[in-house]
Amino acid sequence: METKLFQNPNSEQELNEAAAILRDGGLLGIPTETVYGLGANALNETAVKNIFIAKGRPQDNPLIVHIPDASWLPRCAASVPDAAYRLAERFWPGPLTIILPRHPSIPLQTTGGLETVGIRCPNHPVTRELIRRSGVPIAAPSGNTSGKPSPTTAQHMLADMDGKIDGIFDGGASAVGVESTIIDLTVTPPRLLRPGGLPLESLREVLGEVAVDRAVTEKLAEGERPRAPGMKYRHYAPKAPVTVVTGSPKASAAYIAANAPEGAGVLCFKEYLALFSDRITQSLGSENDQGEQARRVFDALRRFDQTPVTEIFAQCPDPTGLGLAVSNRLKKAAGFHVVEVAE
Ligand code: TXA
Ligand code: MG
Repeated sequence: METKLFQNPNSEQELNEAAAILRDGGLLGIPTETVYGLGANALNETAVKNIFIAKGRPQDNPLIVHIPDASWLPRCAASVPDAAYRLAERFWPGPLTIILPRHPSIPLQTTGGLETVGIRCPNHPVTRELIRRSGVPIAAPSGNTSGKPSPTTAQHMLADMDGKIDGIFDGGASAVGVESTIIDLTVTPPRLLRPGGLPLESLREVLGEVAVDRAVTEKLAEGERPRAPGMKYRHYAPKAPVTVVTGSPKASAAYIAANAPEGAGVLCFKEYLALFSDRITQSLGSENDQGEQARRVFDALRRFDQTPVTEIFAQCPDPTGLGLAVSNRLKKAAGFHVVEVAE
């Protein structure tokens, strides 16, 4: 199959052609502010099955359903609590996925067999317009091959999906860079299932108490089931094994300088690039700029695949604000192989 690249958001013809792919059961790479998604008609079981095949994704891992605005919530959820509308009002369009009871029109194929459904309104004008024009909710996991770092550019997505899907709409680099935050509103108190582009602190401002699922910070025991099925898989992983080093930037840099063997690459804050000038490095951005760290993390992990590094040592931000999502992605890329340096 030839994968068509759409590039002109001002072209009626391109928008209509891309929306028709979605509506008629095809697969389309769609730009969002978090990461690129692999979109298909969420109501079409065959189309959804093809998403799983293109990604090599386990069938029990549910997909997020994307809508153009909160007025579509009742089309996708069997009941919509007041808290969902309050969150939507404050944070949509934006990097927040809300778990609600599944509407019968959303097939179990889309929800990985669950009676709940994750719903999100992405903050990207092209994708919201494409969903509106297609007229149907769009199921979209991140557009990477299963297990690989998520794509934050159309080029990343093309590298994984060329020849496997009908098209990709290039909407520029993703502005946030890590996936949406997932909040489960079917339990009390509401539970954070995945940290992401919307900080936990912001959710607590609206909801009050929010529980944090253990899978966010810890490796689960063999056979243990997290509430977000996707959290159990090794993920975001470059080819070389990763070791994450926590602690203050100064302490983690010193640890890596003293302990990384020859041939190891380093993913470090910009301020420490000079310290590792004799190694293959990728910058995670400034230690003081969490937004930059989120935008860079997946691209930096992918770039190591084009180098001969035998393993990767990564500095890790504090788990506050966007740092909770970035540190979670790094730890998952490392299969939770983490060295905690005091300080
Ligand atoms: O930012 C994002 O959320 C991106 C863009 C494309 O919107 N999408 C994304 O999808 O990250 P994916 O499939 O890569 O990750 C979805 C995560 C998985 O961990 C999955 O298990 C969880 O959401 N999930 C989806 N529906 C769920 C449900 N009903 N209950 C619990 N977890 C759910
Ligand atoms: Mg994903």
